[in-house]
Amino acid sequence: MKLNVLVLGSGGREDALCHKISKSPLLKNLYAIPGNPGMERYAKVVKVPLGDFEAIKNFCIEKEIDMVVVGPEEPLVRGIKDYLSKFNIPVFGPSGKSAQIEGSKSFAKALMKRKGVPTASHIIFHRDEYHKAREFLEKSAYPIVIKVDGLAAGKGVTISQHFNHALQTLDEIFLHNKFGVSGNSIVLEEYLDGEEVSVFVVTDGKDYVLLSPAQDYKRVGDGDTGKNTGGMGSYSFNEILSDGQIDEIKHSIIDPVLDGLLEESSPYTGCLYCGLIITREGIKVIEFNCRFGDPETQVVLQNLENDLLELMYLTVKGELKNYSTKNSGKAICLVLASFGYPDSYETGYEITGLDLVEHLNDTIIYHAGTSKVGGKIVSSGGRVLNVVLSSKEKDFKELINNVYQTAELINFENKYYRKDIGLRGLLKLN
Ligand code: AMP
Ligand code: GLY
Repeated sequence: MKLNVLVLGSGGREDALCHKISKSPLLKNLYAIPGNPGMERYAKVVKVPLGDFEAIKNFCIEKEIDMVVVGPEEPLVRGIKDYLSKFNIPVFGPSGKSAQIEGSKSFAKALMKRKGVPTASHIIFHRDEYHKAREFLEKSAYPIVIKVDGLAAGKGVTISQHFNHALQTLDEIFLHNKFGVSGNSIVLEEYLDGEEVSVFVVTDGKDYVLLSPAQDYKRVGDGDTGKNTGGMGSYSFNEILSDGQIDEIKHSIIDPVLDGLLEESSPYTGCLYCGLIITREGIKVIEFNCRFGDPETQVVLQNLENDLLELMYLTVKGELKNYSTKNSGKAICLVLASFGYPDSYETGYEITGLDLVEHLNDTIIYHAGTSKVGGKIVSSGGRVLNVVLSSKEKDFKELINNVYQTAELINFENKYYRKDIGLRGLLKLN
């Protein structure tokens, strides 16, 4: 059996997914919509807008696509799986209803409450309850976390240290409509202190397997300072979590959540991203995402020894029973960004040096925000490239050194990157 596969998305995560899928002996043809220049190395990139479900459906029928792999959350929350399923096109990813676990924070919170899953205590206010929310903030303990209920491209979470800041945030969401309908409700949450870890669960709704745990770096500046971004780097290896912690996560978080979704007659299929925090009182949920994380996917997939395409296809067919994953080695990803990101930044600068690093051992460069202009690769986004190093043998310190040496060989104007990616991981290993 050989499969025609379509990957949806255009970032470093999707470049990594295409790269790994392209190594499978089960693959016939690999396509990417809308894709990026990095994916052209192993997929046919097709310029169809991601929001045009009908055009995507027509493409799938024409190319006899056996499975669509959805990278970003937005098409999932908009129900692309439900839509393509009507035409018998299998999709790796959850239905619109299950994707609410990311699309609506209040849906996720209600599910966790019902199933007794440990998470921050919370209270929800709707837009017409502005005064009640304000009163709550006046009396509340600080810091407090304010989250808009709907999708906000990672920008909908604010941690306030005092009332004035919280009030300003509340006003922006409810009075100045900063997030549109995504801000029709807010979740006010207890602040949790601890180390964060991302765990990817691949599930057919009943059975599941785990990929190696990862940590990402969300803030723009060294030492976790400055604004939140889509992610400035990541690393992954099994030692991030002990066997006991993995058991705790399975029993207190994954099992009850998958059960809860089954009970709501929306079995979850695809990748469930568990954003967790290790607190003194145990491991708690910060958030769920209905898809692979970015930039964690870029490292997690390096450690996965299984055939990713086989894993995904078995997931879609509901045949994960008796399947297991093997994850080994260590991987690190450094994001090369445009200076100024996540605020305004300039793009359109030629990228040089990619040819110098292409053949380096244990190295792969994924494209996140690049374009091809007249045969040249130029920067076209905030996060431009991902420098990924991985090895089964090298120690992690060597990988960190190598990732930074490699980053120096790639150049474009306004190149910016954090200097401390991976250092937290070294502490884990000592
Ligand atoms: P989210 O978009 O829900 O992942 O939140 C973005 C980031 O905000 C998380 O990765 C955490 O660093 C932080 N965060 C979210 N919720 C909490 C919380 N209850 N306590 C502490 N930090 C949080
Ligand atoms: N790395 C965080 C996310 O993908 O949402």
